[in-house]
Amino acid sequence: SMESPETTSSSKQPIERVVVIGGGAMGAGIAHWIASHDMDVTIQELDSKTATAATERLDQLTTSWRKHHSATNDDEQRLRSHLSVTTHTDAIPSADLVIEAVVERLDVKRQVFQQTEPLLADDAIMVTNTSSLLVHQIAEVMPRPEQVAGLHFFNPVARMELVEVVQTTETSMATTERLLRFLKAIGKTPIVTADAPGFVVNRVLFPYLGEAIQMAAEGFDVSQIDQEMEKFGMPMGPLELLDHVGIDIASHVATSLATILPHSECSAQDLQRMIDKQRLGKKNGNGFYRYRNGTKRGPF
Ligand code: NAI
Repeated sequence: SMESPETTSSSKQPIERVVVIGGGAMGAGIAHWIASHDMDVTIQELDSKTATAATERLDQLTTSWRKHHSATNDDEQRLRSHLSVTTHTDAIPSADLVIEAVVERLDVKRQVFQQTEPLLADDAIMVTNTSSLLVHQIAEVMPRPEQVAGLHFFNPVARMELVEVVQTTETSMATTERLLRFLKAIGKTPIVTADAPGFVVNRVLFPYLGEAIQMAAEGFDVSQIDQEMEKFGMPMGPLELLDHVGIDIASHVATSLATILPHSECSAQDLQRMIDKQRLGKKNGNGFYRYRNGTKRGPF
């Protein structure tokens, strides 16, 4: 028949099996969230060391999930039965959806897409969680770019309801619709965005963060800026938020936005100076603030 791939019945099937490639801060959070909605998820990691680190992240997420949901041992066992961690590609062929959440590097992401593609089921969708690269630059290595999109979760995944579904000019409507149904099934609020720097959220958010970075560089008191914005109604001040995101990740986003927001170049440079001094944010204990065991101790 003349049926195009996007009208085949299989592509209308709900997403049931998911593989997340990369079990770091985001990948582990995404996988855990999906498993807590009774879907099977496999995290694919590089080697036994990074797989162990991913498993430890899942353990921590499970501990806070248990507290938050007053879950029983049975609930926990059920959730864990949906989760596995592997260093092989064996879960890819049966996946309906593959979510790439590896390091923010175009060459690495392209390689992951290229290596995964031959193993994908015909109707599988593959997405990237990138926050600063353009999705089409990753998708262009794929023979079926209509089945590729961005799926931009926010940090921390368990707390942030919004997920951006990033459509390239090649992403099919069937792919987008299937992703929207999936996000609703796992209790997230999706918004469809175009494939442009910062998508929607970071494009609007970063000029605000950039002004806070600028004020800090001018010598304004870091905690005073944050306290004032919290009193204004923000759930967390802008500089503490940057520490949570990671100064390195934020610097990538600022750099990508510099093509459309000239001011952003300045933020990227300020953030780079922090990275040069090993101030990566909460993840290594030093950012705009100092942290010990994940608890804020005071300005840096
Ligand atoms: P991360 O550095 O915590 O995790 C990356 C993980 O990928 C590591 O566990 C690493 O071992 C693994 N990895 C690297 N290469 C791999 C490969 N070839 N195969 C399998 N696993 C591999 O990074 P994070 O913060 O989780 O970021 C991941 C992605 O999510 C990036 O694209 C980032 O831009 C995006 N993102 C980050 C947010 C944040 O606030 N940190 C928010 C939204 C998106």
